[in-house]
Amino acid sequence: IPVDEFDLVIFGGTGDLARRKILPALFRRFCAGQMEPGARIIGAARSEMDDDGYRNFVREALREFGTGRSCEEGTLDGFCETLSYVTVDARGTQGWKELAAKMKIGVVRAFYFSVGPSLFGDLAERLHQYGMADADSRIVVEKPFGRDLATARALNHTLALHFDEGQIYRIDHYLGKETVQNLMAVRFGNMLFEPLWNAQYVDHIQITVAETVGVGGRGEYYDRSGAMRDMIQNHLMQLLCLIAMEPPAKFDPDAVRDEKLKVIRALDPVPPEDIVRGQYLAEPDDPEKPGYLEHVDNPRSKTESFIAMRLAISNWRWKGTPFYLRTGKRLRGRTSEIAVVFKDTPHSIFGPEAGRHRNILTIRLQPNEGMELGVTIKEPGPGGMRLIDVPLDMSFAEALGPDAEEVPDAYERLIMDVVRGNQTLFMRGDEVEAAWAWTDPLIDGWEARGDAPEPYESGSSGPEDALMLMHRDGRRWREIRA
Ligand code: BG6
Repeated sequence: IPVDEFDLVIFGGTGDLARRKILPALFRRFCAGQMEPGARIIGAARSEMDDDGYRNFVREALREFGTGRSCEEGTLDGFCETLSYVTVDARGTQGWKELAAKMKIGVVRAFYFSVGPSLFGDLAERLHQYGMADADSRIVVEKPFGRDLATARALNHTLALHFDEGQIYRIDHYLGKETVQNLMAVRFGNMLFEPLWNAQYVDHIQITVAETVGVGGRGEYYDRSGAMRDMIQNHLMQLLCLIAMEPPAKFDPDAVRDEKLKVIRALDPVPPEDIVRGQYLAEPDDPEKPGYLEHVDNPRSKTESFIAMRLAISNWRWKGTPFYLRTGKRLRGRTSEIAVVFKDTPHSIFGPEAGRHRNILTIRLQPNEGMELGVTIKEPGPGGMRLIDVPLDMSFAEALGPDAEEVPDAYERLIMDVVRGNQTLFMRGDEVEAAWAWTDPLIDGWEARGDAPEPYESGSSGPEDALMLMHRDGRRWREIRA
């Protein structure tokens, strides 16, 4: 469905996120015929550049970061016609009048703050001062949304001076991933799962987001954050919420976000013995893959590049079912998945020799998005009643066939939702604050104790203690496949 005419201003329009994600996502939507004629994208940043300079910059970015979509000849030229550029100084006066004069009246205005949070306040203030913060305006802000509860509150407060909550779109790109949205479709669009989705039938739930990359060129940011702030407080927390929440009455932004918020508020504090933090070691004989400490150039760093934890949700549905979360860099494979492990049958009619069998529903976020349900069947053949587990495997790409639309990137979906004015897949201010309120004491705890992360080998599944975290409960992590 094409969306209405809009003006989208990207502050930080020459930055890394714009090049890698925002501009390629917009281009793909343009190719898909989703941008009405008249839609405009305005890059805004400090660099001196004219419109043609920006168009060349964008062409270059699209070449480098792939379009991922086959476009007709000439489409790129068409896309470039939607682009223009204004040199803007967020903290000064340069460029603001020009930008204000450019904006069309009566169309949706979206301002993407693809800049560090220290500039959010200045940008909001300038938009207000130059008359661009009207009721049709929306602002989009990226993570990190603060580094603790106090800074998140301060940010919320600053933005609220000029924008209503309904105009603020806080991005967590995990919510834009196709399979993450599918989580809701699977849970609430089928009769099959929901009756079993509780502590009576679910033994435990595992959420893994494993990456093979290290901290790359973001050492400075990362060393001040660590896996807890970078991944758990936002991405994994969102996955946890969608898996654990009660069915919202309807698929509308506040109904969904109310339910997510209740999950966060029902999380128990986590005792130190239920948290394992790790730091990756250098890949032997590969100077390209230094260890974490060299990578961030801080030999005494106690920041974690891996974390595993056991969480408990204190409510009627989940009391007694632990949730195990883990995420880390430089692990064996790039896998993100959620596994819902069901309990054993109450009694085995096949006797103890049939062994232990369990249904596991695995939702794969990446790679090869899809779902798998492990079921127990009889091993074929005349050898008696021997049981084996087989997967009912569904790859979305295969199931939907070659004619299905290519799976859109998270940013494509989210940017279009901003233009459409749909906040369902964005975090509300109270949600972000609740997540920090839960995170803060855990971080304060290990900092006060001076806990050092456990080193782990590059290309492994993380530190030994992370395995023990489950073993001691008589459970096992699912394998991270290379
Ligand atoms: C980002 C984190 O938000 O998410 C990165 O800051 C991480 O450290 C990235 O690598 C993972 O996203 P994805 O989409 O590649 O799983």
